[in-house]
Amino acid sequence: MQQIWKEYQEKNKNKFLNELLDLLRIPSVSAKSEHKADMLTCAEAIKQRLLEAGADTVEIYPTDGHPIVYGEKITDATKPTVLVYGHYDVQPAEPLDLWNSGPFDPTIIDGKIFARGSCDDKGQMYMHIKALETLVQTNTLTNNIKFCIEGEEEVGSPNLGKFVTSHKELLKADCVLISDSAMISLDTPSLDIGLRGLSYIEVEVTGPNRDLHSGVYGGAVANPITILAKMIASLHDENNHINIPGFYDDVINATTEERALMAKAPFNEEEYKTDLAVKELWGEKGFSTIERTGIRPTLELNGIWGGYTGEGAKTVLPSKAYAKISARLVPNQNSDKIADLLINHLKKIAPACVTVKATLHHGGEPYITPIESNAYKAAAKAIEATFNKQPIPVRGGGSIPICSLFEKELGTKVVLMGFGLDSDNLHSPNEKFDLANFYKGIETIPYFHQFFAEM
Ligand code: BES
Ligand code: MN
Ligand code: MN
Repeated sequence: MQQIWKEYQEKNKNKFLNELLDLLRIPSVSAKSEHKADMLTCAEAIKQRLLEAGADTVEIYPTDGHPIVYGEKITDATKPTVLVYGHYDVQPAEPLDLWNSGPFDPTIIDGKIFARGSCDDKGQMYMHIKALETLVQTNTLTNNIKFCIEGEEEVGSPNLGKFVTSHKELLKADCVLISDSAMISLDTPSLDIGLRGLSYIEVEVTGPNRDLHSGVYGGAVANPITILAKMIASLHDENNHINIPGFYDDVINATTEERALMAKAPFNEEEYKTDLAVKELWGEKGFSTIERTGIRPTLELNGIWGGYTGEGAKTVLPSKAYAKISARLVPNQNSDKIADLLINHLKKIAPACVTVKATLHHGGEPYITPIESNAYKAAAKAIEATFNKQPIPVRGGGSIPICSLFEKELGTKVVLMGFGLDSDNLHSPNEKFDLANFYKGIETIPYFHQFFAEM
């Protein structure tokens, strides 16, 4: 098997790459309405690629937002079915001046593709289409593969839930396979056995009913920026625990065994600090860096603004101040419950000199893949087949909100077989994906299908 796949992939290396570069040229930014047409162009390109790769049928399903691409290759209805999920939308590329090359003008330097979406998630999603092509072209596909590629993951998948719920039969599968996360490195392969959930809110703090002259009124009227800054500063205590009553109530603490296992994963704190240009790390007392980003919930300020931020100086006492705040959640925390908790807490701690309005953005539940599941075992075996090493199970810090819904609605486990690296600059300027990781993914995925079909 192996040899015939290898030969096909070796022969088509450049074709695979050039096709990916074409996809990366489409600025499919889901958050911005100006890209609505690009989203459809991208969905159509993916439909075309799936058909060329050997899918029997591919359909573009419109939604209230951006379309979902669904495709399938059914070889034998009595055989296991793998549902591959990925997303073709990308995060906004801004700030543009920090990119060394155009975000939608993919550039290869030192064996790395620099472009928005190269790793998250077009590059990783495309590995699955090329794995399908490999299996079809070499006549070695023994299971059924379904594809659900959405265009709204980066904005919280607002329409995918409804699609999943209303298309259970269409999406019916024995496991869900996702490559939209990272591994430790090609030398130390790992598999995510969990993702964190998310609660995202926005707050508006209002002081006086209009902007005021800071000399005429300053000192006598509360400045909403000062008040908001104080409120935010109170959200963590001196040990960097989250200072909101009830926040940790539902957290299932990782066992001593799991923490001991986590501590075995290679991690170089000096390199980590050097890479980020920080002298010291920061975090919740009592937990290691890997634990802080994996098994612990967090609270982050994603944005804060208010008053005058234009050129020069303006002496103003602003009427309003704003912040975007999100919490990463771990099992068994609930996204809606934590959002309510956050909103109520902020309202409660606000002094009477301001009023607080809070709104809810998207959220998602945490997810855990049991290592006893067939899906996990097939993924671990596939990694072993191409890396000659057993993958280390780790917890991913990011969120893919649809995971828990897939499990709930389809009754299947989700396996996270990511081929990115934490250093791929996801959501940042100069996002990249190593060619070696791209090809390793295409090499490994066919084994997953083979092993899962055998289980
Ligand atoms: N691919 C990421 C999630 C991810 C990144 C998982 C790294 C594991 C490791 C995904 O595209 C993403 O960015 N998700 C968002 C959540 C969404 C609701 C905007 C996130 O994690 O912030
Ligand atoms: Mn992603
Ligand atoms: Mn992302």
